[in-house]
Amino acid sequence: MGAIFPVIWHGDRVHLIDQTRLPAAYELKEIRTSAEMATAIRTMIVRGAPAIGVAAAFGMVLGAQEYSGSDRASFLAHLEAVATDLRQTRPTAVNLFWAIDRMLSAAQAETATIEALKDHLLATAQAIASEDVATCQAIGQHGLAALPSTPEKLRLLTHCNAGALATAGYGTALGVVRSAWRANRLERVYADETRPRLQGAKLTAWECVQEGIPVTLLADTMAAHCMQRGMIDAVVVGADRIALNGDTANKIGTYSVALAAQAHDIPFFVAAPLSTIDTKIHTGAEIPIEERHPQEIYQVGFTRIAPAGVDFYNPAFDVTPAHLITGIITELGVFAPADLARGIGAA
Ligand code: MRU
Repeated sequence: MGAIFPVIWHGDRVHLIDQTRLPAAYELKEIRTSAEMATAIRTMIVRGAPAIGVAAAFGMVLGAQEYSGSDRASFLAHLEAVATDLRQTRPTAVNLFWAIDRMLSAAQAETATIEALKDHLLATAQAIASEDVATCQAIGQHGLAALPSTPEKLRLLTHCNAGALATAGYGTALGVVRSAWRANRLERVYADETRPRLQGAKLTAWECVQEGIPVTLLADTMAAHCMQRGMIDAVVVGADRIALNGDTANKIGTYSVALAAQAHDIPFFVAAPLSTIDTKIHTGAEIPIEERHPQEIYQVGFTRIAPAGVDFYNPAFDVTPAHLITGIITELGVFAPADLARGIGAA
């Protein structure tokens, strides 16, 4: 398989790689309406912060196609309603809201006709997708430069999937891994399985196998042990939302990995595009944390693993405090969390 693009515009519809089917099957899911796109995001057929932003942007294009009138004000009201539906799919990744807002701004463009405005919206969604690939490649290069200079061949640990599948292509944290591999600086990547939905086992491992990147799969409980045994040189993870002070929400379990990395003096990097920084919030305490259905906890595959009568808690993300983060790798370079706000200001 060549490059992996999880969200592809196809004439008048979108093809999504169905990430709920990997690695057992590689299937494309056809999305024809904005409502189908909202369902695909909610059910995680497409997932990962930048990827759901791109998917939502194309969801707005599909929503625009659904309007057949010629009145600009009612077209814009219709788009606002589509945006509201898409915004309600997943609360944590800010890229979703960022992309929808960018599409709504694009809808303010002065065009001769509604049809021309629809074309402009499609061009904007396509720009969001292609910019994301370029952004991830830049993150990969900056990350590569920031990795420890010794040993020559690094052993990196990652959590969840922040790869091509989680972006428009290439990946953020896994983009850094990919760049290290292509630069001959990677010995292997350790992938946490990432309970409960197993994005590490199902998606990160799959992506690595596609590219021939040596990958060792770990149960989440094993990361600290591997660090204690001197098996990990650095950690690189993605992000769903970064507060201005550098506190970072990412997949549940990331915080434990950061604590373990600090205890073993191992650098802990967050790789994310600037669109993942929420400039409206100051600390991680303000980041909304998605809670998902308890079935993700009490069931593995089709088998129930817990007895009836217990209660469940299933937060999908946690917040790693800025003081545990060595550097935030963006398309503009690597920032210490304390310099993040200044860095954005200079952008
Ligand atoms: O629930 P998911 O699979 O959408 O969560 C994904 C993550 O937490 C990723 O690490 C994050 O979105 C970064 S993706 C480049």
